[in-house]
Amino acid sequence: MPTTDNPLRFIHISDTHINPDTNYTLDYAQYTPLIGAQALVKAVNDLPFMPDFILHTGDVAYDPVPEVYPEIKTLLETLKAPIHYLVGNHDDAKAIQRVLMGRNAETIQDYLYYDFEVKEVHVVCLDSNGAHNPQYPSGTVTDEQLIWLNDICRSDDERPLVIAVHHNIIPTGVPWLDTWMRMENGEAFHDIVSQARARLCGVFFGHIHQNITTLRDGVMYVAASSSWCQFYSYPIPENTRHSPDIITNPGFNVVSISEQTTFIRRHTFAIK
Ligand SMILES: [Fe+2]
Repeated sequence: MPTTDNPLRFIHISDTHINPDTNYTLDYAQYTPLIGAQALVKAVNDLPFMPDFILHTGDVAYDPVPEVYPEIKTLLETLKAPIHYLVGNHDDAKAIQRVLMGRNAETIQDYLYYDFEVKEVHVVCLDSNGAHNPQYPSGTVTDEQLIWLNDICRSDDERPLVIAVHHNIIPTGVPWLDTWMRMENGEAFHDIVSQARARLCGVFFGHIHQNITTLRDGVMYVAASSSWCQFYSYPIPENTRHSPDIITNPGFNVVSISEQTTFIRRHTFAIK
């Protein structure tokens, strides 16, 4: 079991959005996704300790273009710690499994969900790219995954639990987050994970390009910054679409888990 003196330490990264066109960017972004991802790798590798693992909460690629994943592999395999991937709405689930995870045809899933254990902490990764309103970049977690997650969360397993998924889950009062971006069956998801609140260290997600935290019913939901461009979110009715945040640096979360505590440092890095 991890302790304060010997915690589980992982790095939560998200939304690298690497594009096959290395010159690709958007008008409000300050640099290309590739430059951001390269700086991310350097910043993580320069940390003064070796993380137990890195958790990428999805949107690894800009678009689900399978050809880009070998290039992504070349870059992200220079990270010194092992990396675990989730699928974002801009990703190709099968290319992630084949290229980045080295799975063969027999073990590739339609939806990428799996679990693993490090230092007696149980880490559960889900795929929130189920059927959803096609007008929005929202998502759902499939019933099959919810049944699996429910079995985990209602069990008498005493290990600390980390849950990860791409989409934001809980309504926040920010219209573009709640209507445009959110997991459409987030309420069902929350009801399930709440059963494990006593041992749940946090639900880690991405998708929204900002490092916000939401607490509900004793469950902490933690987003990581993108390594590319950031967005604002204001809890006002006018905030119906994303607002580029050109001031805030990119970043990632340094997460330390001990038997009693989840400690998160919001680490940022500058692009030179
Ligand atoms: Fe996304």
